[in-house]
Amino acid sequence: MSLEFIKVDKQYEEHIALIQLNRPKELNALNLQLMGEIRDTLKELDSDDSVRAIIITGNEKAFAAGADIKQMAGKTAIDMLNIDQFSTWDQIKKTKKPLIAAVSGFALGGGCELCMHCDMIVASETAKFGQPEIKIGVMPGAGGTQRLTKAIGKVKAMEMVLTGKFISAEEAQGAGLINKVVPVDVYLSEAVKLAKEVASMSPVAVKLAKEAVLESFNTSLDEGLVLERKNFYLLFAGEDQKEGMQAFIEKRKPNFKGK
Ligand code: CAA
Repeated sequence: MSLEFIKVDKQYEEHIALIQLNRPKELNALNLQLMGEIRDTLKELDSDDSVRAIIITGNEKAFAAGADIKQMAGKTAIDMLNIDQFSTWDQIKKTKKPLIAAVSGFALGGGCELCMHCDMIVASETAKFGQPEIKIGVMPGAGGTQRLTKAIGKVKAMEMVLTGKFISAEEAQGAGLINKVVPVDVYLSEAVKLAKEVASMSPVAVKLAKEAVLESFNTSLDEGLVLERKNFYLLFAGEDQKEGMQAFIEKRKPNFKGK
C-alpha cells in the first residue's frame, strides 16, 4: 500500500503500531485520501497478530485541524452524498484492537472526532480540542454531536458545538474527554507507555472487553449485560484465561499469547 499522507510504523515498539498523520503544512487536515489511508492501515493492522495496540498521532502543532475545508468547500449536497466520506469513518469505528490517540496542538472538527474514535486519549499540555464547524456554516459530521455529548455531557458539548469554542487539555481532562495531560515532550512516550500496558494483557480479552465497553453506547443496560456475559464466558474457551489465572495462583507474570 503506498501512503502519501500518513506514516506507519508497524513495530514502533514491540506489539505497538504507530500511525502518524503527515500533512504538516495543512495542520493534518483530513482529506479523503488521508482518511482512506487510515482506514486501510487500520484494517491491515487489525488482522496482524504481531500488533496488540495502535497509536494515532500528529505532530507537536496539530493532531488534526479537521476535515479538509478546501476539499469540501465547493461541493453540493448530492456530491457529499455520493462521496459518502463517513463510510470511511464507519470502517475505522470497526477496529477491534485498542486505539490510543497521542494528541498535541489542534484537535479540531474531524480531528477531535478522530480522537473520539480512539479508545483512550493522551494529550500534551498544548493540546486544544474543539468542534468549530459552526463557524464555517456547518456542524460536526463524523460523530462529534454524539460522542462529545456522551463524553462530557450536554451543556458542555452544546457550548462547544454551538459556539465553536476550543477547550484546553486540562479542561478536556476535567470534563472526561481525555485520559491524561502531560508535558509536550513526553506525550507520545506516555501514549506508548499506556499502549504497552494494554499490549501486555491478553489480546483476546482486550478485544472482547473493548467490544463490550463500546456496546454500552448502543444498547440498553440489559442488552449490554448479555453481550458482556457472553464475552466473559467466551474467554474461558481460550488459553489466555488458563494462563492468566494459573500465573496468579503461581505468583508469576502471565505470558499471554492471544489464544
Ligand atoms: N482544512 C483545510 N486546510 C486547513 C484546515 C482545514 N480544516 N485547517 C488549517 N488548514 C490550512 C490553512 O488553510 C493554512 O493553509 P495555507 O498556509 O495554504 O493558507 C494552513 O493549514 C495553516 O493554517 P493557519 O494559517 O490557519 O494556521 P493558524 O495557526 O493561524 O490557525 C487554526 C490554526 C485555528 C487551526 C485554523 O487553521 C483553523 O481554524 N482551521 C480550521 C478548523 C476547522 O474549522 N475545522 C473543522 C473542519 S470541518 C470538519 O471537520 C467537518 C467534520 O466534522 C468531519
